[in-house]
Parts: sequence; structure tokens; C-alpha cells
Amino acid sequence: MSVVQVMLGDRSYPIAIRSGSLVDVGAAIAKELGTTRALVITTPRVAEAHGGAVATGMARVHLSSARLLVPEGERAKTLRVAARLYDELVELGCDRASVLVGLGGGAVCDVTGFVASTFLRGVPLVQVPTTLLAQVDASVGGKTGVNHPRGKNLIGTFYQPRLVCIDPDALATLPPRLRRSGMAEVIKVAAIWDAAFFAWLEANLAAAMNLEREPLEEAITRAVAIKAEVVGLDDRPARAAQLRAHLRARRRERGGLPRRHPRRGGRDGDGVRRGDLRVARALPGGDARAARGAAPARGPAHHPARLARATGRLPSRDLGR
Ligand SMILES: NC(=O)c1ccc[n+]([C@@H]2O[C@H](COP(=O)([O-])OP(=O)(O)OC[C@H]3O[C@@H](n4cnc5c(N)ncnc54)[C@H](O)[C@@H]3O)[C@@H](O)[C@H]2O)c1
Repeated sequence: MSVVQVMLGDRSYPIAIRSGSLVDVGAAIAKELGTTRALVITTPRVAEAHGGAVATGMARVHLSSARLLVPEGERAKTLRVAARLYDELVELGCDRASVLVGLGGGAVCDVTGFVASTFLRGVPLVQVPTTLLAQVDASVGGKTGVNHPRGKNLIGTFYQPRLVCIDPDALATLPPRLRRSGMAEVIKVAAIWDAAFFAWLEANLAAAMNLEREPLEEAITRAVAIKAEVVGLDDRPARAAQLRAHLRARRRERGGLPRRHPRRGGRDGDGVRRGDLRVARALPGGDARAARGAAPARGPAHHPARLARATGRLPSRDLGR
């Protein structure tokens, strides 16, 4: 089993990746969250293919569970479906000691995350993605949302799960079209972010596409690790902390004295650099280069800004400057 950690301070969480692990999702929830009640949101297709394994595993560890069905695909991502889920959660007596589990593709992850973040102002969330796209992208990072008639994902929140459980074996029932679109995402992040991973994919892509366990697990793990890294860099509170430290450092530098006063002490920017480094240590992986906005060691070809432009995920790193 591989475990990738998303580093977000007190909102950090593990992503566990192991073939054949759907039946152990219950045990992982019991261990990680200590809850005794799970409400599983899924689609009829996924429920039929994989709901049994998840429910069996939950019963095995005495985790009581109920299943809430949503429509397939984008039809799950509406305020109407969210409202119906709220009704069902009220009926079932869902409280903050319960956990919402999103079992399905990216659409299920998005609507489950949205409902979890808004019901009772937030209940614990676990994502169990069953498409490749959801495993390497939608289930990680805390973006939730539903669609508006005027546009996709217009309504949503940022809300991190407490745990993500990925079973690559779940992809066996996936239509080839969805397998291909998920793999396109894997290739994209490798091309932008990690040359060694891209080279590895060139040699192992066919085996991963054929769902051979080892290469598929490896491909998912490496793609998830990149997403987790990006999520850490993209974290709003971390960036807000960076801004606060920057402003504090600026005040310290000035020491209440005019900007160019000889007794001010320290070169302009020294305090800021110290502030940046302090924040850097708190950032994912403690990467001081990332906090300073410099290119990581991978080289210019893998500068985060390139990923930002390609994916539109990273906000301006000039925040506060
Ligand atoms: N939140 C994010 O960061 C993020 C990132 C990327 C995509 N998304 C969202 O994800 C959605 C697309 O997700 P998707 O590509 O996973 O498709 P999807 O969630 O729409 O699922 C497609 C279909 O496959 C079925 N399915 C899921 N797993 C299956 C399995 N193992 N076997 C058989 N059928 C299965 C689903 O029930 C559905 O009918 C979009 O709404 C997109 O906006 C969100």
C-alpha cells in the first residue's frame, strides 16, 4: 500500500492507495476518524459494482452504514440533488459524529464534498473515488461543487476530506473511454511536473492501461503525489499566513521608522525573507523555494508557474507583494 500525505497543517490528511482495498474502507474510516456511522453517497452503477464490498467491510468493523443514491454523472451535481441529500441526512439523523462517504466518480466526489461542507456547517468527509480521473484529481484537494444552469461548477466550496481511499481495482468496471480520459490527466501532470515520471509512463503506460496492478498503482500514486504537492502550494490559509508573515516582517523592518531612516536596521527585504522562510517551513514539505516563489530543483521545465498556467490551479504567487 502507498500512502500520500496532503500537507495542510491541521487539515492534513492521508490518501491510501492499494489494490483490493474497497473492502477495507470501513476499517480505515474506523481507525482514522473513530466514527461509528457512515452515510455512503453513490450512483446506482457504482453501488451495483462496488457498493457491496464497501458495505461488507463496514459491517465487519461494526460501522453502521446507509446508502444514499444520486443520479449518474453530471446529473448528480445540482442544487436539487444536494437539497434532496440534505433531506435524507436530516431523516437519517446525520450529525457531526457521522461521516459522509463519496463513493464514485468526480461528480459524486464533488456533490458529496459540497453537501458535507454545508450540512451542519460541515461534517466529516471521506472520498472513495472509483474513476481514474476522480482518483488522481477530483477526490484530492478539497474543491467541491455543483453546477448552475448557466455554468459548470458555479456553486461550490473548499473543504478537505479527512481521508481518501483509492482502490485501483475499482477501475476494472470502468468503460474504456473513462479509463482513457483519466489516463490523459495522469500524462498531463507528468508532462508538466515530473520528467522522470513522464519517462516512466512512456515505458509503462500500456501495462497501466491494461490495469496491471503494479504499474497502475504506481501511476496513480505518482500522479496523486503531484496533486497533493500542488494542493499544498495552492492552499489559501497557507498563502494567507504567508501574506501575514510578509506584512509583519515589513513592519518589523521599518521598526516604526520611516522607510529610509538610517536606524531602521537590516536591508530592505531581510525581514520579509525571514518571514517567508518561517512560513516555508510550515508549508507542504517545508519547501522554502516554493514559499519564495522560486523554481524548485526540478528545473525551469517544471516550474510551478507552468503548471499554474496549464491547469489554472495556482493563484498568483505575488500575493501581498
Ligand atoms: N473537484 C475537483 O477538483 C475536480 C477535478 C476534476 C474533475 N472534477 C469533476 O469530476 C466530474 C467528472 O468525473 P468523472 O470523469 O470521474 O466522471 P463521472 O463522475 O461523471 O462518472 C462517469 C460515470 O461513471 C460511473 N462510474 C464511476 N466509477 C465507476 C466504476 N468504477 N465502474 C463503472 N462505472 C463507474 C459513474 O457512476 C458515472 O455514471 C466533473 O463533474 C468534473 O467537474 C472535479
